[in-house]
Amino acid sequence: MYQLNLTEFTQAQFLKEYWQKKPVVIRQGFLNFQDPICADEIAGLAGEEQVESRLVYKKGEQWQAEFGPFDDFARLGDKDWSLIVQALDHWSEDAAKMIEPFRFIPHWRLDDLMVSFATPGGGVGPHIDLYDVFICQGSGKRQWRVGEKGEHREFAAHESLLHVDPFEPIIDVELLPGDILYIPPGFPHDGVTIENSLSFSVGFRTNSTNALFSGLADHLIDAEQGLELIADPERELSTESGAINASDYGLIKQQLQQFLDDDVKFSQFAGSFLSQAKHELDLLTPELPFTKEDVGFTIKENNLQKLGGLRAFYFSHSLNEGRCYIDGAEVLFAGEVAGAVKLMCDNVSLTPEQLLPWQDNDAFLSFLTEQINAGYWYFAQ
Ligand code: SIN
Ligand code: CO
Repeated sequence: MYQLNLTEFTQAQFLKEYWQKKPVVIRQGFLNFQDPICADEIAGLAGEEQVESRLVYKKGEQWQAEFGPFDDFARLGDKDWSLIVQALDHWSEDAAKMIEPFRFIPHWRLDDLMVSFATPGGGVGPHIDLYDVFICQGSGKRQWRVGEKGEHREFAAHESLLHVDPFEPIIDVELLPGDILYIPPGFPHDGVTIENSLSFSVGFRTNSTNALFSGLADHLIDAEQGLELIADPERELSTESGAINASDYGLIKQQLQQFLDDDVKFSQFAGSFLSQAKHELDLLTPELPFTKEDVGFTIKENNLQKLGGLRAFYFSHSLNEGRCYIDGAEVLFAGEVAGAVKLMCDNVSLTPEQLLPWQDNDAFLSFLTEQINAGYWYFAQ
């Protein structure tokens, strides 16, 4: 289990002083840090079709980026390249545990856990991210420079690598295993590896208005909602046929506003949208479906585990009505088992003792059996 070792500030002080505001180095944020996964295993993952991976290196002065799967790294030599694997939390149960210490930030804000293996001189170049990131240094050493937020010219160093012009560092540090560098969105940064190194990046994101509206459009189409047309039986005589007058403008705005103001419909959309996985899930669908009786029996003996990368949320205002959101869909359940569903959304692992009050509850066992047979939760051996 990974635990954050904060000595300079508390989690609450971190949120107040640094979160989304300024970068900070947390020396030995993880004491006695052990890599959850080794470089060979990362290379193995990068050979898989369904895993998103990227190689970044320089050919002479020209930056290069290639997308996986990869089966040959020997051609790259032993310096100046890095291999990045996205959504490591979906593919490695041990690596997913690195997210746990950051749960003081709610899970809907999480993007993913990314790992980069880099050889000396390797890195992705100076760039700016839109996301908050905790870069956790694994084995090896890496030099990180972070500049001030501000006007930085961005340019394509390669068609899939957006870089920034050189910047004055406000942080210039060598990270050692267990050190953490937090960088908020907008601060240019550049990590250059000193010796073969693993960096684990726990990234947090929000959505642009553009992405929200695009998600909303998809949701309305799927749910066949929002099909009502504007009705204007009170129309008054118009003398300017080219004008969209103030009252008509109001009607059009009102059409959209009505949807946003409908908290049942809007929370259905927001919950479904925020719980969508951005990367493929490695579903653990059982070979033989569990019966409710199997689940009722096993729940008394084994820990219940949530699938790595699964997004499962609830709104405090509708949990007791029996609504939650799992992997992009609204899921309804009996309100009497809301306490158990809350535990499942809030935690990655639950012991039989934690689920004791519901272990013989028929409504809960039905809900859980469905979730297990969908491959979203499983019993630890
Ligand atoms: C990396 O680990 O190579 C890149 C991480 C980042 O700068 O966002
Ligand atoms: Co970055």
